Amino acid sequence: MIKAITGTKDILPIDIPKWKYLESIVESTMKTFNYKEIRTPIFEETALFSRGIGESTDIVSKEMYSFVDRSGTSVTLKPEMTASTVRAFMEHSLGKQQGLNKLYYVSPMFRQERPQAGRYRQFHQFGAEALGSHEPLIDAEMIILAHRIISRLGLNNIEIKINSLGIPESREKYKIILKEFIKPHFEKLTEDSRKRFDTNILRIFDSKADNDQQIMKDAPLLIDHLDEESLKHFETVKQILDKAKIKYDVDPKLVRGLDYYTHTTFEILSSSVGAQSALCGGGRYNLLAEQLGGNPTPAIGFAAGIERILLACENEKSLNLPEDNIDLYIVRMDKELTAEAYELSVIFRNENINVELDYLSRSVKAQMREANKLNAKFVLLIGGDEYAQKKLVLKNMETSEQIFFDINDLISIKEKIIN
Ligand code: HAM
Repeated sequence: MIKAITGTKDILPIDIPKWKYLESIVESTMKTFNYKEIRTPIFEETALFSRGIGESTDIVSKEMYSFVDRSGTSVTLKPEMTASTVRAFMEHSLGKQQGLNKLYYVSPMFRQERPQAGRYRQFHQFGAEALGSHEPLIDAEMIILAHRIISRLGLNNIEIKINSLGIPESREKYKIILKEFIKPHFEKLTEDSRKRFDTNILRIFDSKADNDQQIMKDAPLLIDHLDEESLKHFETVKQILDKAKIKYDVDPKLVRGLDYYTHTTFEILSSSVGAQSALCGGGRYNLLAEQLGGNPTPAIGFAAGIERILLACENEKSLNLPEDNIDLYIVRMDKELTAEAYELSVIFRNENINVELDYLSRSVKAQMREANKLNAKFVLLIGGDEYAQKKLVLKNMETSEQIFFDINDLISIKEKIIN
């Protein structure tokens, strides 16, 4: 039997209410903050991501689903949305229409990572990108927005980490200092970290290997080498968060896995989901639009992993979803009344009442069992002596009350069901 591809997951009907609920919280919170939805294609030209995210990042160097299509173009299933959003923003000159574009998305993403709990090859993100403002206010808003959504989902065991990566000039100067510090320990680093020494030295801070962590414990920190402007920006972001009573920790070792960041970066972590604890990550990327051939556009955004958030919700039992139910189950007592029962279902469905009935020639008892299983609020019985007397019986499944209606009085039945 053919099975789903490793690292992908079917979302079955039983799980859909959780997804819909999360999506409704995302949508309504984005609306509160006036973010507008954007949808971009599932695949893009590979160059968009390799140039945008950075050749030396894990995503670009080993995780992208890239292939050459029949016309010879290298295309890639999107591993993230920031580069795609910036591409769409530039392609449609959204910046000319509006000084600040506040956009959000909910979409599948693709990365060929080693699958484990909370880490998939097709996963889903919701996120937001604000393009056009330098103001620290929007940095803080992005963190407040992500935090608001996560809080509305009832998650408690969370931690917000923030950092500033400053501007490339101060970062380049700092990298020389960091290189000098690491050089005497170079041979003791893991192979991965030795590779990063030349390609992406900041990412050595991300290494999980004990040895590397031991070495990096005393490393000089970028935050101590930031230029004045960057420090001022970061201070203002913190002040706004303080005023909004958002608790956070400054983590000077927080370097994100994508190359486009400048200034503020942040992650929201959960202690309820095991090793893959980052529910959400983001930051400022003031140079990305230029790097992709557009006009300079200051911007900031975040993305959150839906599977991980739902896992945290499940472990914290934070979602109180209403029970699934239907309005009406039509029980037909005589097989000969199948057509009449169906005709009634059509009439009620046209009135936007949720109706189910039997398609399996089941006995009355089995139909009643099904009505219970589906949590039907009402059952409409058609058949028997009552039907001979031109009556239908509506049973309230909660109170067991039975009301008799004239078979032509469907309006009264509808009103009883709706009210
Ligand atoms: P990211 O940190 O690569 O950032 O991903 C954001 C979130 O997506 C992670 O915190 C995690 O919850 C989820 N995620 C990532 N990879 C996987 C996976 N393989 N399986 C399940 N969940 C995963 C970005 O994608 C940036 N585009 C965020 C951003 C937006 N920065 C600025 N704007």
